[in-house]
Amino acid sequence: MNKIIIANWKMNPSSVEEARKLAAETDVEGLIICPPFPFLEAVAKTIKKAKLGAQDVFWMNPPAGGAYTGEVSADELKNLCAEYVIVGHSERRQNLGETDEMVAKKIKAAVDAGLIPILCVGETRAERDSGKTKEIIRRELEIGLSLISQLSNVKSQKLVIAYEPIWAIGTGIPDTPENMLDMVKFINGQVSGARCQVIYGGSVTSKNAGLFLKHKEIDGALVGGASLKKEEITKIVEIAKNYA
Ligand code: PGA
Repeated sequence: MNKIIIANWKMNPSSVEEARKLAAETDVEGLIICPPFPFLEAVAKTIKKAKLGAQDVFWMNPPAGGAYTGEVSADELKNLCAEYVIVGHSERRQNLGETDEMVAKKIKAAVDAGLIPILCVGETRAERDSGKTKEIIRRELEIGLSLISQLSNVKSQKLVIAYEPIWAIGTGIPDTPENMLDMVKFINGQVSGARCQVIYGGSVTSKNAGLFLKHKEIDGALVGGASLKKEEITKIVEIAKNYA
């Protein structure tokens, strides 16, 4: 399976012109660009080789829309040509109190609408230091996927799991490839049956990407900060291609 690189722009940039420019400069095959909601349409119209993803989705998806102020539905994303959606990013869990149960509902809404969910899991520094990493990841996977594991087509459902240790996000201190390989094995053991790609996220740059991507077990990377720099992100995609 080809490796995938996710560009998580987070709450950047601040104007549609900049978003269009960055999308045009980083429109390469193998990249999934996840801009903020207001720029989805502009990015969709700009890219030809990259794919489109969103950074979040609401769990209700009524056929005729609904009274959910500020939320964005899976159908709305799908109609804007999004193929992927990030769900349960640690910044949402921490800043907005998103729970595993909410994540589960969002994953189901995404799957029902035909989007490929990118489920983010990861532990805090304190949890890592106290040896709780696998316990946390098991819980996040078990509850997060609980509503789709009841679906009869779960085996054919495409799914991406991003292992992102929270302490590695935006800190410049990535996890080690050795630990990631151990986590990939653990995660695959938890989700056996699904068509799942397991990718790494947390301070990925063009300098360290190869250390992760050279392993066939690691299916790609979720890139935050470095995805806003055209040289960096296009280089990371090139590295991924070398190891496809
Ligand atoms: P980072 O972010 O690459 O800036 O560490 C990764 C993420 O939060 O997805």
